[in-house]
Parts: sequence; C-alpha cells; structure tokens
Amino acid sequence: METVVSGIRPTGNLHLGNYFGAVKNFIKMQNDYNCYFFIADWHSLTTRPNPENIINSARTILAEYLACGIDPEKATIYIQSDVKEVLELYLYLNMNAYLGELERTTTFKEKARQQPDNVNAGLLTYPTLMAADIIIHKAVKVPVGKDQEQNMEMARKFARRFNSMYNIEFFPEPASFTFSSQAVKIPGLDGSGKMGKSDGNCIYLYEDAAAIRKKVMKAVTDSGPAGMNTEKPEVIQNLFTFLDIVSTKDTYDYFNDKWNDGTIRYGDLKKQLAEDIVAFNEPIRERIAEYMANTELLDKIARQGAEKARESASKTIKEVRQIIGFR
Ligand code: TRP
Repeated sequence: METVVSGIRPTGNLHLGNYFGAVKNFIKMQNDYNCYFFIADWHSLTTRPNPENIINSARTILAEYLACGIDPEKATIYIQSDVKEVLELYLYLNMNAYLGELERTTTFKEKARQQPDNVNAGLLTYPTLMAADIIIHKAVKVPVGKDQEQNMEMARKFARRFNSMYNIEFFPEPASFTFSSQAVKIPGLDGSGKMGKSDGNCIYLYEDAAAIRKKVMKAVTDSGPAGMNTEKPEVIQNLFTFLDIVSTKDTYDYFNDKWNDGTIRYGDLKKQLAEDIVAFNEPIRERIAEYMANTELLDKIARQGAEKARESASKTIKEVRQIIGFR
C-alpha cells in the first residue's frame, strides 16, 4: 500500500469549509493508503505560541479530526513532537539545504514581511522540516492545498539531493495530491467566495444550533430576484451551494423554483438552511464534545499514534545513518 503523509497546522478550530476540503479527503484516503496524519506543533513554534496553547490546540485538533471520522485503527494520527526521529532527519537535510534556495521560498519571504522582528532560522528552514516530516515515512503522496506547492517542490528536491549525494535510490519523491480541485468549495456567509477563518464568515464544527442559526440568518443576501429565471448573483448562489451540500434535493428544488418564479423569501431559505446545517453538524459537534471531555482517551490515542509513527520513522533513520556513514 502506498504511503501518504500530511501535516495539520494547529491554527484554530475546524469549520465546514475544512470539513468538505481537507478533512473529507483524509477520511477517504485512510481507506486506500497507509496514512500518517500529524499535528505540526514544531512548525507552530515559528510564531512564538504560549505553552498552554501548544497542548490545548493539539488536543482540540485531535478531538475534531477524530470526531469527523479519522479512524486511528486505519490511519496513524500523531503529534509531530512525539516523534523525535524527525528532528534527526531535519538536521541531515539542513546540512544540504542552501541559504539561497531557502531565502527564495515565497512562504519565507511572506512570513519575514509579516513578522520582521522575528525572522528566525526555524522560519527559514520550514521547508526542510516539512520535507523531513514527509520522507521520514517514505511517503509518495501528500494531500496539501495549492499554497503548499513550493514547499512540496523543495521536499522533492531535498529527497532527490539526498539520493544523488549518496548515489542511492532511497527516498521516493513525494507527489502533491491536491484535493482542492475536486473538493466542493464551501462558500462564506459574508458574501465572499470561500469559507475562511473569520467569525461572521464561517461555521465551526463545534458550534451548536443557536450559534449556527444566528450566523446563517445573518448571511449576506441581496434585494431579491429582478424577474423570472434570472441568473443568481454570487451571494445567492452561495446559499444554494450550501443547500446543495446539506439539504435534500427536494429542498433545493423547492427554493430553486421559488427563485425562478421570483417569489423567493430569503428568510425562509435561511431558516431551512440553518436547520439542515444544524442536523449535519450535530453528530460531529457531539463527538467533539465527548472527546474534549476525555483527555485521557485523547492522550492515549496520541500515544498509540506516536508509537506507530516511531516504528516507521526509526526504521528510516537507522538506514539513513548507515548511508551517511554513522555506524
Ligand atoms: N506546511 C503545511 C501547512 O501549512 C503543514 C505541514 C507541515 C505539512 N508539515 C507537513 C503538510 C508535511 C504536509 C506534509 O499547511
């Protein structure tokens, strides 16, 4: 079975856009591949998080991914900092990563601009750590968003460089597996095209019925159809995209007909949409709450994941030491 690795940046809670993008993709992949999913807590140190945030956000992310259906029996889910072998590979890769190429990375330049008083070496070597995360398990596929393309190119370059340096076909070149092209794009509620992490724009998976209703009722609309069978403007199309995802076909057709004959009432549509989102969210929300109330279980799952990940990582590292000349 082919090996898949992906890292999860520990920034905030999952929302519906994440669910129908990365998360659903992970859930599908865990059936077909040997998957390693990890919470990238070392990567998060590039921006000076405080200590409580580190453990709490790792637990939250773990709880949310498990609640969505990541199955620790199928996929190995772990916390990056539990697998120290990655650091050793990171060091080796850094010895053959050049200042020029690291400085040219767009994400580095962007971060350097965002935090000019903290342009640290971890930021600079973010791509080598990411490469180590991936090739430590000899992964061949990496599900990532489009924004990670350059980091993925670097990972392939570092894998190739190691191989050619020691004249051995050791690390496979990891291919990006971009899911965003097939995934349904969940629109935002503020009229923007995409659901992102801003409060009025997104519905988090942990949110309850009252919170969801309030947000949906506030979603941006317009003054209504200008006539019969007109084209839907983006903000309205967004609501229909939502209906298409969470509601029945009958519901969708009902409101679509109302749009076409010009009698639609957005309030009715939103009420229905809110109820259908609540129904979709509710089981996930309940499972998140259950996991969050059981840190013992969460810690146990993380421990077991780390054990499995370390098995694979230590095998690679032993071989790498041999190849480099540490015997
Ligand atoms: N850089 C990725 C992001 O920002 C997170 C990440 C870290 C990652 N290590 C990885 C993704 C390894 C895939 C594989 O989203």
